[in-house]
Amino acid sequence: MNILFVCLGNICRSPLAEGVFLHIVKESGLTERITADSCGTGSWHVGSPPHADSQRVAREFGIDISYQRGRQLKKNDIDQFDLLVAMDSQNKKDIIKVCGNSKKIVMMRDFDPERDSIDVPDPYYGGIDGFYEVYDILDRSSKELLAFIKKGIV
Ligand code: 4NP
Repeated sequence: MNILFVCLGNICRSPLAEGVFLHIVKESGLTERITADSCGTGSWHVGSPPHADSQRVAREFGIDISYQRGRQLKKNDIDQFDLLVAMDSQNKKDIIKVCGNSKKIVMMRDFDPERDSIDVPDPYYGGIDGFYEVYDILDRSSKELLAFIKKGIV
């Protein structure tokens, strides 16, 4: 199972999603069977490390995401991955534009048991509190996503 997390810039939300999800996969002993990557629909941050605040929040929870580098979504990602997980509704629309519509394209907060919106809010223009909020959403959603994968639901 190969999962691709997708946001706009690939520096705030999706790198943190990749880190949080892989951390939970490792804790579950499933590293051999489940892999993950992240990308952005935009190209501004290709080659850049994650945002300092995403790195900081991840580190506080014992997760290193400093190795990641930004990349842009490409057409054949739909063939390379089993699931493309969009952070917000605009990301999903942009994925469909690039890759075509597919059942493989889902929203991260489809898996959030405490969902109050379908979008993972973009913390880019705010302060550190937004990054903590995003971490909580990603942690809850990643646990449920992994549970669904284990049950063969997605
Ligand atoms: P992300 O946040 O999509 O969560 O990585 C953003 C990062 C950069 C920009 C927008 C959103 N930007 O416009 O450069």
